[in-house]
Amino acid sequence: MKTILEFTRAKREQQPIVMIAVYDALMARLVAASPADALLVGDSVAMVVHGHPSTLHATTEMMALHVAAVRRGAPDRVIVADMPFLTVRRGTAVAVAAAGQLMQAGATAVKVEGVAGHEDVISHLVGSGIPVMGHLGLTPQSVHQLGGYRLQGRDAAGGARLQEEAARLEALGAFALVLECMPASLAAEITRARAIPTIGIGAGAGTDGQVLVGSDLLGLDPSFQPRFVRRYLNGHELVGEAFERFARDVRTAQFPASAEVLA
Ligand code: KIV
Repeated sequence: MKTILEFTRAKREQQPIVMIAVYDALMARLVAASPADALLVGDSVAMVVHGHPSTLHATTEMMALHVAAVRRGAPDRVIVADMPFLTVRRGTAVAVAAAGQLMQAGATAVKVEGVAGHEDVISHLVGSGIPVMGHLGLTPQSVHQLGGYRLQGRDAAGGARLQEEAARLEALGAFALVLECMPASLAAEITRARAIPTIGIGAGAGTDGQVLVGSDLLGLDPSFQPRFVRRYLNGHELVGEAFERFARDVRTAQFPASAEVLA
């Protein structure tokens, strides 16, 4: 996809939306060469690339650096960038400055976790011409308040709250919603009730699209294997084996061979 308008069209035409989270130019090039629709520069970059324990460590500067790299790898694709921890809670001026930095780095849109208490910021961003993707359910920036990475909206009250928040985000002008870690039936209900598309992660098959983190679907991290991730490659083993073979070849003088030596 080249513009956010295609998200709504995809929902109307019942074309499932495919989004992949990546953080660098090389991976962005690979995604851009695939049939995936959109790229997400998630604040999961703080964990996956920078080794932090949570997404709370992502900063606007960190995000902008990765957005710029992803934009260089995928010059004509929709790129959604996460608004980092607390940037939408420190008032409109801070949010606009952060979103502006991400947009100038190359983002097409920003993603905002939650809605309660920052409605004014979301509506100001939308009113300023910055497309906003909502994110409901498990919102990792609130991991400490949620008591861990757990399924959300399990009971009737929680489900009703998420339904209402999805409606509020649509009314505020969000162009799409990420629904993370919630019962499939609830995600499907939200999807049916909304005109804007939903993109699920750990939210079952009833959403308008799916998003996964690139390194998860490539199976690069054996310590992170939630049930909702499908591994399309045993990346950890394949990469480990390649590094092992390289080390062996160097130590047994098999590398470089004559064809690999510059004349
Ligand atoms: O940060 C991220 O990668 C995300 C996805 C998991 C949706 O927000």
